Amino acid sequence: MNIIFLGAPGAGKGTQSKRLEERYGLVQISTGDMLRAEVARGSDIGKQAKSLMDAGRLVPDELIIAMLKSRIEQPDCVKGFILDGFPRTTGQAEALDTMLKADNKKIDVVLFLDVDEDVLADRISGRFTCAQCGATYNEVSNPPKKEGECDACGSHEFKRRADDRRETVVERLKEYRKLTAPILPFYEKTGRLYKINGMLPAAEVTAQIEAVMAGQ
Ligand code: AP5
Repeated sequence: MNIIFLGAPGAGKGTQSKRLEERYGLVQISTGDMLRAEVARGSDIGKQAKSLMDAGRLVPDELIIAMLKSRIEQPDCVKGFILDGFPRTTGQAEALDTMLKADNKKIDVVLFLDVDEDVLADRISGRFTCAQCGATYNEVSNPPKKEGECDACGSHEFKRRADDRRETVVERLKEYRKLTAPILPFYEKTGRLYKINGMLPAAEVTAQIEAVMAGQ
């Protein structure tokens, strides 16, 4: 099964796609994580992406589509994948359709996490992740069970994203409104779009998603 998570920055796409990955044995593909890995490596892609990401802008379609295409061609994607952060423009949605059709594949479910804009900046500014395993936490809604220790791997090292500063979040939300929100009708037309109330606590969001999955 192939799934897309849509939603604004901070809507909970990463949190929920990690849960789906564990529950259904699918591969989570986060284009944001892939780009951050390229930046950390100092690769050509990373050099092109860094200043745009730091400014809260989207990176060019050509670059991201090529990166995504080579990722979904990897053998671990055969059982199915979860796209977290892709597609983000109409051009990316169309390119995805074309590449899947060429391979006799399709998107089975599109999950749209609907969250009011006024809570997104607070969610993002409270976010931190484990530096070892990448588990995501939130100062308010989801702190580690034992302060300063990752629930998943026990590490004591945490980090924050460079683009989670409030000024950058304002720009990321503008990009979302202008370029990403307009792709919702593209998926609405396919009848595979499910709107999930992302304002609820994370466990209740997961329960809504599992109800959708049970109906597939
Ligand atoms: P990316 O890494 O994809 O970031 P994003 O889409 O802005 O989304 P986030 O990762 O910020 O949020 P999320 O929805 O995953 O929320 P999370 O689960 O962490 O992209 C970063 C940049 O890379 C882009 O700006 C762009 O430059 C570039 N890029 C990436 N993909 C691209 C593409 N396809 N095209 C072009 N450019 C691209 O949750 C957030 C916080 O809230 C956490 O602390 C979490 O614990 C908490 N939380 C989660 N759920 C709940 C809940 N239900 N209630 C309360 N708190 C919650």
